[in-house]
Amino acid sequence: MRKKLITANWKMYKTPDQTREFFRDFLPLVTDHERDEIAICPPFVDLPAASEAIKGSKVALGAQDMYWEKEGAFTGEISPIMLQAVGCTHVIIGHSERRQYFGETDDTVNLKLKAALEAGITPIVCVGEVLEEREAGITEDVLRRQCTRAFHKLSGKKAAKLVIAYEPVWAIGTGKTATPQIAAEAHALLRGEVAKALGDDLAAKVRILYGGSVKPENAKALMSEEEIDGALVGGASLDPKSFAAIVKY
Ligand code: PGA
Repeated sequence: MRKKLITANWKMYKTPDQTREFFRDFLPLVTDHERDEIAICPPFVDLPAASEAIKGSKVALGAQDMYWEKEGAFTGEISPIMLQAVGCTHVIIGHSERRQYFGETDDTVNLKLKAALEAGITPIVCVGEVLEEREAGITEDVLRRQCTRAFHKLSGKKAAKLVIAYEPVWAIGTGKTATPQIAAEAHALLRGEVAKALGDDLAAKVRILYGGSVKPENAKALMSEEEIDGALVGGASLDPKSFAAIVKY
């Protein structure tokens, strides 16, 4: 059985004060929650406040992006070592908003994925098709391409911590959710791609999260699918009660 991972992606929301406030309200709601792993990915500047707040809890901390080099003249970037120094154990890589607005490519996803695994950080690699691609019937090709390039020159042995998030771009922040069946089909395809690139053992273990308008109202139906191993939650993760309700679907 794969333990589900419920992850919050706060995107560009909340200051350090608002971060402390969130945890003050959120942590008591999930103190006894053992069934799933919980990770929260705030903006970079909130990481120290979040790291302090989660001490003694089972909640893990993640970042929303990172650079692949350890250090250097890379203005504006953050390295894996820096993330670890402030308590991050997880990192989101290749989110569709990074791909769409900030020039993230399949190749930079591959570099970041390898750097995260090298550093011992759990990478949550996002893949997913845009609406035009789904309508043109090329979803499978898009997912296959994203996986092939993301896993380029990666070995199954090194990829033990890999997590994938299937996020159909048309479902992100739109209120439209993929049906549990659409998601389960995509997840099965992705698991097949992991098997091809990284071996059957890893494919059986790898967790594939669903992301795109996950809310308290639809979390149970999505999480009940055997192929869905957790969620990556944007908008609905900003409110402590709503995120706790998703965690406890
Ligand atoms: P959403 O975002 O839950 O607001 O749709 C999900 C994501 O972008 O990770």
